[in-house]
Amino acid sequence: MSVQRPSDTLRGDEERIYVTQPYMPPLEEFIPYLEDIWDKRILTNGGPFHQQFEQALCEYLGVEHLSLFTNGTLALVTALQALRITGEVITTPYSFVATAHSLLWNGLKPVFVDVDPETLNLDPARVEAAITPQTSAILPVHCYGHPCDVDAIRRVADNYNLKVIYDAAHAFGVRTQGQSLLRHGDLSILSFHATKAFNTFEGGAIICPDAKTKQHIDHLKNFGFVDEATVVAAGINGKMSELNAAFGLLQLKHVDAALARRREIAASYCQLLDDIPGIRCLPVCSSAEANHTYFPILVGKDYSLKRDDLFQRFRDQDIFVRRYFHPLISDYPMYRGLVSAQPDNLQVARDASAQILCLPIYPALSNTDVERVAALIRDNSGAN
Ligand SMILES: Cc1ncc(COP(=O)(O)O)c(C=O)c1O
Repeated sequence: MSVQRPSDTLRGDEERIYVTQPYMPPLEEFIPYLEDIWDKRILTNGGPFHQQFEQALCEYLGVEHLSLFTNGTLALVTALQALRITGEVITTPYSFVATAHSLLWNGLKPVFVDVDPETLNLDPARVEAAITPQTSAILPVHCYGHPCDVDAIRRVADNYNLKVIYDAAHAFGVRTQGQSLLRHGDLSILSFHATKAFNTFEGGAIICPDAKTKQHIDHLKNFGFVDEATVVAAGINGKMSELNAAFGLLQLKHVDAALARRREIAASYCQLLDDIPGIRCLPVCSSAEANHTYFPILVGKDYSLKRDDLFQRFRDQDIFVRRYFHPLISDYPMYRGLVSAQPDNLQVARDASAQILCLPIYPALSNTDVERVAALIRDNSGAN
């Protein structure tokens, strides 16, 4: 009789550990919001929950103006429209595809620039060399919610009169020097997708510097309508529904506890994975208040297994770690023909993409599971 390995057993979904699990508040707390929507029969178009949620989010995030969206991708597409970006946009290959896709949807040309080896964010020192007369903007990503070098990016942008739009999809609630990271750039966008530290099922937002910009973006996300008979731009439908906005309002009541639990888990991983040869946890810069949406590690050549072998060991145990971000965006068919997508231009990103593994992190993850994940890495390291 053969010995049954864990991967041979029929495991229920609840026994699997995924890289993330959406935070859901108690269902009974959502019922009054639903009753309110049913009473009022206002489902969308900037209804009362939409307005309350925008206000509450501004207060929570410490920003002055924000426009809610259906999702982060439409927020990105609209942000580029709002600033009338043209020609070439400098961006990172080390991100989720939506970052570069938003450029193609605007008929813009992505120009990929390599990342910094410490942060894996766009390397400002390399941005300048990629600027051409066609460049009109920089689209950096606060990858994993870890802050970009915003001052250096601002300096280059100012020198060359470029706009900066931050893809801050991972950066909900992140603060630097006691202030919101989202205040940087001409615009920043957020995602409230189910996989993010703060979710509204689907959702997103554009952080705006002033009321006038917000008003313009509000028009753009509503087909360009200013009033019943006036359309000022070829806008889109990017409005968040009342259901999502109500859910977001409720989520805000729980988000501090959820972020605190993420912080605890991140601290445990850092401790449990300390001093394993070849394993490097990606540090958040010391002046940042992080949100720990992800827990990325780099599996270096001093580790006893290759990254993909370790990935497979996790799968064998029904632990679904993820290789964010592998492949690089620049390797996908719609990008790989670009000159800037050529491998020797993106060596740092390429190396990171070959080593990265994001470990499970979410509020409901138990200490036992955190220890199990860390033990699997240590037990396979040959360090015992
Ligand atoms: C870096 C980044 N940008 C943009 C997006 C798109 O956001 P959404 O899924 O809300 O459209 C995501 C993820 O979902 C992301 O990770």
